[in-house]
Amino acid sequence: MKTVFSGIQPTGKVHLGNFLGAINNWVDMSNIKNKNYFCVVDLHSLTTHPDPKKMEENILSTVRVLIAAGINLDNSTIYTQSKVSEHAQLSWVLSNFCQIGELQRMTQFKEKSSELGNHAGILTYPILMTADILIHKANEVPVGDDQTQHLELTRNIAERFNNKYGNVFPIPEKTSGKVGTRLMSLRHPENKMSKSADDINGTIYFDDSRDQIIKKFKSSVTDSEDEIRYDLEAKKGISNLIDIFSSIKGITHKEVEKKFSGSKYGEFKIEVGETVAEYIEPIFSKYKSLNEKEILSLLKANLDIAKSSAKETMKEVNGLLGI
Ligand code: TYM
Repeated sequence: MKTVFSGIQPTGKVHLGNFLGAINNWVDMSNIKNKNYFCVVDLHSLTTHPDPKKMEENILSTVRVLIAAGINLDNSTIYTQSKVSEHAQLSWVLSNFCQIGELQRMTQFKEKSSELGNHAGILTYPILMTADILIHKANEVPVGDDQTQHLELTRNIAERFNNKYGNVFPIPEKTSGKVGTRLMSLRHPENKMSKSADDINGTIYFDDSRDQIIKKFKSSVTDSEDEIRYDLEAKKGISNLIDIFSSIKGITHKEVEKKFSGSKYGEFKIEVGETVAEYIEPIFSKYKSLNEKEILSLLKANLDIAKSSAKETMKEVNGLLGI
């Protein structure tokens, strides 16, 4: 049986990129008999100095979305990172197996450091991510493309630790789909779709209404041609729409091109919008129907499972380190 780990930050609302890039894979993996850990990584979100008053609400909302998306709770442990202190402990241990230069080379560090105030948390963030993955000895990590570099670092750190102390950690693999692994903003298709509040029209949120979704797709930025063709260099906007349609329908880019050959951009945008609305609507209505008490009791039970697995690994690691 494989162990799967993945995480999501409780900053802002879950969006279409999170679903197509990661959560859909989590759902699939939870339906195979894996041992799955899905973690709301509140410690990671501290790098953005989030509003403490909203933290608990955002964590619960994120958990709700994961359940509404269809994660099989029989095979999964959903929990909050900060409640399992071993994540931070292992992170410290592993920081001694990572070069500063490796961290400085991370694209996300380069992109985010000036925006977020250039603090050390943004630099050491990938070590905490490594600890998240290794604390449960995960084999598979389903994530979007933006996490590829972090996963490579995780593998390197795990190998270095193993070289010194024996075969402690599996070397984890990144799992991602063929399409939808990097959704771009509908308004700025050169940028990644993100939770950031300054691009609400470029992002589809889990609680957007059908009308909002169609409106956002109608105003999506494309190009001055009239051919629905996947070309990431010359046609970023149209390629993004093809990617979204392709991911939700489970068909290839080529099949999408064929289906819409000769269609006008306007018709295509509306059809993608309707497809997305059909995908989002049941998730949001399930989200609204979930009972808060049941979620809290699930989180409590799951926390015990996560704690016991993390404690076991940390005990082994501490023993090897002689502490
Ligand atoms: P986060 O919270 O930014 O995103 C959660 C997941 O969604 C994916 N994702 C996307 N996929 C496709 N297109 C997009 N536009 C898009 N935006 C986000 C992300 O790749 C991610 O899989 N560092 C992580 C959280 C984390 C983690 C971990 C993940 C912390 N520890 C350990 C895996 C393993 C992050 O900020 O994800």
